[in-house]
Amino acid sequence: MAKKINLPYFDHVLKKFSEKDSELSEAFSKNIHWGYWENPHKNKVTAKEYADAQEALVEQLVKLAEPSNESVIADIACGFGGTIDFLNKNSANKTIVGLNIDIRQLVHAKNHINPDNRNNIFYVTGDAVKLPFASASVDILFTVEAIFHFSDREAYFKEVNRVLKPEGQFIISDFISAENFKLGKYLIWKNQRASYFGDFDLRYTISKYKKISAKTGFEVSHIMDVTKNTLPTFTYLNAAGKEMTGNNLFSRFQIKFLEYISMKNLLKYYFLKFKKTTS
Ligand SMILES: C[S@@+](CC[C@H](N)C(=O)[O-])C[C@H]1O[C@@H](n2cnc3c(N)ncnc32)[C@H](O)[C@@H]1O
Repeated sequence: MAKKINLPYFDHVLKKFSEKDSELSEAFSKNIHWGYWENPHKNKVTAKEYADAQEALVEQLVKLAEPSNESVIADIACGFGGTIDFLNKNSANKTIVGLNIDIRQLVHAKNHINPDNRNNIFYVTGDAVKLPFASASVDILFTVEAIFHFSDREAYFKEVNRVLKPEGQFIISDFISAENFKLGKYLIWKNQRASYFGDFDLRYTISKYKKISAKTGFEVSHIMDVTKNTLPTFTYLNAAGKEMTGNNLFSRFQIKFLEYISMKNLLKYYFLKFKKTTS
């Protein structure tokens, strides 16, 4: 039986896309993740600036990939295809595969991205913890701000290890709980319809990532704390308020809570890169 998708924020944003005058079309039609500001500030953030900052975050992540002639790139949990779009515009002769559990997002991505630069782009519906790819078939695998939704992170790491070639690169962005965050164990919202962001688990720490990597045949080769660079995201999310979250008041509380713990450095935003040690 197909897994039930619980992503109220996508239901809301997709509905808003169909209302032609919603600023959410400008903010989220490519990416739906935190933004990256080289020089973070406290000024107002418009939908366009937020969209640009989200693209800047993709650019930073793509920069972490070592240049290579290899050609198969996968973006797991690709959302509306912002990372695919960036790769398509900035590289050539690649096979780019976007996977997502929600076919509506893939349809949106496909309708908005034209393969360019002799790239081939494929869209696959599926669950990240059971990747429908052959073993040792992927050179670079991205997962941008999504891993906290997956049902089993260790199973996901095992799958990524299986599908990556021996020299493969695995690059993610994720929310990371501070090691000393005693209340961190509450950073889970599971099966609550009231949660705007659906099911998520933000309890992972860097030491947990190191453990899971060692267990699944990876080493963490790059750790970059970019929390400060992402903070203007909250200026946009708070101001977009009702447009962003509809009548879901709990969602505004969730965003305020995430802002508070991010400002206090209890919840951080990291770029991480993993290299395979064993298959
Ligand atoms: C915050 S969005 C990020 C989307 C995209 N990576 C981006 O950065 O714009 C999280 C994404 O994870 C996807 N997702 C959640 N659970 C998934 C799963 N088990 N397998 C594949 N995708 C999943 C959602 O559909 C959504 O597209």
